[in-house]
Amino acid sequence: MESRYREVYRSWQDDPRAFWEEAAQEIDWFSPWEKLFDPEAGIYGRWFSGATCNTCFNAVDRHVDGGRKDQPALIYDSPITGRKRTYTYGELKTEVSALAAVLQDLGVGRGDRVVIYMPMVPEAVFAMLACARIGAVHSVVFGGFAARELAARIDDAAPKAIVSASCGVEPGRIVAYKPLLDEAIRLSSAKPENCLILQREEQGCELVAGRDHDYAELVGAARREARKVPCVPVLATEPLYILYTSGTTGRPKGVVRDNGGHMVRLKWSMFNEFGIAPGETFWAASDVGWVVGHSYIVYAPLLHGCATVLFEGKPVGTPDAGTFWRVIAEHGVAALFTAPTAFRAIRTADPDASLLPPHDLSRFRTLFLAGERADPDTVKWAERTLGVPVIDHWWQTETGAPISQNPVGLGMLPVKYGSPGVPMPGYDVQVLDDAGHQVETGKLGNVVVRLPLAPGSLPTLWNDDRRFVEAYLREFPGFYKTADAGMIDEDSYLFIMARTDDIINVAGHRLSTGGMEEVVAEHPAVAECAVIGVADALKGQVPCGFVVLQGKASGDMATIEKELVAMVRERIGPVAAFKRVVPVKRLPKTRSGKILRATMQKIADHEEWTMPATIDDPLILEEIAEALRKPAG
Ligand code: COA
Ligand code: AMP
Repeated sequence: MESRYREVYRSWQDDPRAFWEEAAQEIDWFSPWEKLFDPEAGIYGRWFSGATCNTCFNAVDRHVDGGRKDQPALIYDSPITGRKRTYTYGELKTEVSALAAVLQDLGVGRGDRVVIYMPMVPEAVFAMLACARIGAVHSVVFGGFAARELAARIDDAAPKAIVSASCGVEPGRIVAYKPLLDEAIRLSSAKPENCLILQREEQGCELVAGRDHDYAELVGAARREARKVPCVPVLATEPLYILYTSGTTGRPKGVVRDNGGHMVRLKWSMFNEFGIAPGETFWAASDVGWVVGHSYIVYAPLLHGCATVLFEGKPVGTPDAGTFWRVIAEHGVAALFTAPTAFRAIRTADPDASLLPPHDLSRFRTLFLAGERADPDTVKWAERTLGVPVIDHWWQTETGAPISQNPVGLGMLPVKYGSPGVPMPGYDVQVLDDAGHQVETGKLGNVVVRLPLAPGSLPTLWNDDRRFVEAYLREFPGFYKTADAGMIDEDSYLFIMARTDDIINVAGHRLSTGGMEEVVAEHPAVAECAVIGVADALKGQVPCGFVVLQGKASGDMATIEKELVAMVRERIGPVAAFKRVVPVKRLPKTRSGKILRATMQKIADHEEWTMPATIDDPLILEEIAEALRKPAG
C-alpha cells in the first residue's frame, strides 16, 4: 500500500486547525471549545480553549456504555510475582470509581495533586484514572527513584494525598517502598494529609496512624457499596498530570499535560501512527513512572478501546529471555513498544532466539522502539527474529507522543536504519545552527520544533512559566528547543544523534548528570567532579564520575568510590546505575572555566576528538585518557 503520509502531513501543514478539529471528533466532549487554538492564552497559545471534557470518561466509561463492557481493558501479567489478572472495561470502571470515591473521602478534589509512587500493579493505573475522573492532577514517580528524588517531587507538586504500596519486586530482592515514602515525607516541606497504601503479599508495611490508610480496606468498602463517582467535567486546558523529568540540574522539571489536547493527540496516534484498531491488544513494556507508560500503557490504548498489557517483570531473568515472546503469544499482542535496551538484553541472553519457537506470534504485527537511539544492529536482529517491521520513533517526556515516526497506520515508508522516521503532523521540525540559522539538508545542528507545539505537548512547567521559557523557548525564538542534536535528510527523515545538554540516557531512562554531580560534590573528599555518560553495550549509556580529591582527603580511593556509589544510589536511586568513579588530578576546562564534558565523553568512548581551541591546558586531556586506561575499581 502506498503511504498516505505525505498527503496527510501536507494537509496538516496547509491547515493545522482543520486537521486537529477533525481529529477532535474522535473524543467525547462535555461542551465544545470556544477557540480551537487560542494564540493569546498560555505561553505560546492553548488548544481546545474553553472546552470541557474528562479523560477518564473517554478512556473508560464511554467504552463501557458503547459495548466494550466485557472486553479486556487491562491485562496484568507479572512473571516476577507469578500473578496474572485481566480486568474488563466494566471491572476497570468499578475499580476506578471505588478508588475515586475513596480519594474524594480523603478530601481530594478538582485541581488537587496526588502523587502516585507505585510498582507496576493494576492499582497504579486505577489511581491515575481515578484522579482523572475527579479532576485531580496525578504525578506518578518512578519506583526506582530514592527518597530524596521523591521528596523533591512532593515539594514541588504539594500533593493532597499520596497513593503508594508496601513494596516493589525486583529480581532477587524486594524493594520496600514504604520506608522510602516515609523518609521522603519527612524530608519534604509539603506534607500530604493522607496516604493510601497498598499492602502487597510479598511484603507488608507499618501504617502511620492518622495519615496512612489501607488501600484494600477503603477501596474494598467503596466497591461493596458500589460507590458511583461521576466523571467531573474539567477544562480541556486543565492539567491531567504532572510528570517530572530530568533537567540539567538536580531539580526536576514538572512537565504539565493538559486533558483535551492530550486525548486528541493520543487517540489520533493509535491508528495512524501505530496501526492499531480498537479491540486489539497493545503492549508498552515500560513503566507507568515514565512518559511511555503514561501515554502508551495507560491513556492511548484505553482511549482507543484496546486491551493494554501491564507487565511487571524484566525482558530477561523473569524467568528468562523468552518472557516477551510468551506475553505476546498468550495475550495476542498486536504491537509491542519498548526501549532498544530491552532487545539488547534479550539478544545478549539468547542470541539465536532459541526461546521463541514454542510461542505463537501470528497476531503480532509491529515492534516499536523508542526512548534512546535504536542501533541498526539491534533493529536488524529484531527484524530477523520476529519477521515484522521494527519501527524506531523519537519523542520526549515533553511531547507525550512521537515527534517523528514511520507511521504504520498511514502506510509505511521505506525504513532507513538509524533514523526514527519523518515528522508527524503537529511538528514542524527544523535543524538550526547555534546562531539560529537553518542548516543545509544533511548537516548536523540543533533540532527544534516551530511553535505552537502539537496538542498534548507541554504548555508549561508546573508552577514555573519562567523556567519553561528559559529552558525551551529562549534560545531559538519562535521554536521549541528539543536539546537533541541531529539532522534531516533529503527525504525529510530525521537522525537524532545526541543531547546538547547534560542529560544522559541509561537503559532508556533519562537522567541528569548535573543531578549526580550535585550528590558527588557533597562527599567531603571530593574537591571537584564531572559526571558524563559513557557508551555501554547493554544500557546505551552509563554514568561515569571523574573526581578530583581534596588535597587533604583521607581514606583510600576504593572506599571513596564505594561511598560515592552508595550516595548516588541513596539520593537519586538505583535507576541511575552510577557504578564507576575515576580519580583524576584535575578536570579539563575552557579558559572561562567550563568543564569540557563532551570531549571527555569522546575520549571515554574511544571516538575521534579534536583539541578544543579554548582549552586551558591541553595536557589534562592526556591525563584523562590515562586515568580511563587504569582498570576500574
Ligand atoms: N523500583 C525499584 N528499583 C528499581 C525499579 C523499580 N521500579 N526499576 C529498576 N530498579 C532498580 C533495579 O533493580 C536496578 O537495581 P540494581 O542496581 O540493584 O540491580 C537498577 O534500578 C537499574 O534498573 P534497570 O535500569 O531496570 O536495569 P537492570 O540492570 O535491572 O536491567 C534492562 C536492564 C535492560 C533489562 C532494563 O533496563 C530494562 O528492561 N529496560 C527496558 C527499558 C525500559 O523500560 N525503558 C523505559 C522507557 S521506554
Ligand atoms: P524522555 O523524555 O525520557 O522520553 O527522553 C527523551 C530523550 O531520549 C530525547 O530527547 C532523546 O535524546 C532520547 N530519545 C528518545 N527516543 C529516541 C530515539 N528514537 N532515537 C534517539 N534518541 C531518542
